[in-house]
Amino acid sequence: MGTKILGTGIYLPENVLTNFDLEKLVDTSDEWITTRTGIKERRIAKEESVVEMARSASLQALRNSGLQPEDIDVVVLATLTPEKKFPSTGCLLQAELGVKKGYAFDLSAACSGFLYALEVSDGLLKSGKAERILVVGVEKLSEIVDWSDRSTCVLFGDGAGAVVLGRSEDESDLLASKMYSEGGLWDILYADKCGYIKMKGRELFKVAVRNMEEACREVLNTAGVSPEEVALVIPHQANVRIINALAEKLGIPRERVYVNIDRYGNTSAASIPIALHEAIEQGRLKRGDLVLMTAMGGGLTWGSALLRY
Ligand code: ACO
Repeated sequence: MGTKILGTGIYLPENVLTNFDLEKLVDTSDEWITTRTGIKERRIAKEESVVEMARSASLQALRNSGLQPEDIDVVVLATLTPEKKFPSTGCLLQAELGVKKGYAFDLSAACSGFLYALEVSDGLLKSGKAERILVVGVEKLSEIVDWSDRSTCVLFGDGAGAVVLGRSEDESDLLASKMYSEGGLWDILYADKCGYIKMKGRELFKVAVRNMEEACREVLNTAGVSPEEVALVIPHQANVRIINALAEKLGIPRERVYVNIDRYGNTSAASIPIALHEAIEQGRLKRGDLVLMTAMGGGLTWGSALLRY
């Protein structure tokens, strides 16, 4: 029995904040942001709450799966911007969707949250403890960004991505995954006393490329798959230079690496499920293809997952 993605969905706020808009807020330029990060614009939620964004993405994922809320028995929601301290945003989403059975919880692993959630859900499915799981990555990072700090405020955006996972009766499966954390490095990326994102960007850059490469190699080795066999790499969208360096180290050409950071910036736990949904919609990922996902975020947390879609 394998783990299969039955359907995906996304929600991105309509409100667009461009680099030119940011030039009016802080001492920065479109040129600096584009060359250093690859970001041109990002979506910023106005009215939408975290739960509303998660709900819209989830409903689309359910529609694309041909399933109803009552078919779901676990909701795993990855976020670093929960709606409330408690109850969990997962429970609030469960109520909004009308999921009546099973249970819901939040998972906190910053930008690696979606991959952590995938690994946990794969375990629940393969142990027989669940049949269909809704996995959501959602962030409203605009609420924890210090809009006077040019070194961070240009990087982040809001959005949500959701996938419905179920049991596979064909070759689709999560073939290998490996998660890591190193709590001793928490102060490279964290929220300060005011709740604002603080980041040692240069240090994180180096660690990100090295750790994601190692994690990718580990899962490829475990699955006995070579980089040439991977149809698409979906890296966490934090910086296009990190993505390019990673692709080069893995020897995977840019055409086989999904990039949408130019449009959305870094949406943390939402970045991989948003990219996954877009890649499927655009026909860049087809049933039977191998997709390699990898992320790195606050914690520090990181990991990689190889999935046959
Ligand atoms: N506009 C103009 N100048 C700026 C800006 C800005 N927005 N931000 C910083 N600068 C300046 C700095 O002050 C510095 O000036 P100085 O040389 O006079 O001191 C100069 O630009 C260079 O700053 P660096 O921080 O060294 O720039 P760098 O090339 O490292 O780029 C960046 C910064 C984009 C943050 C990069 O380091 C990066 O992407 N790091 C990794 C981020 C990441 O991986 N995040 C993933 C996890 S996110 C999560 O978990 C939520």
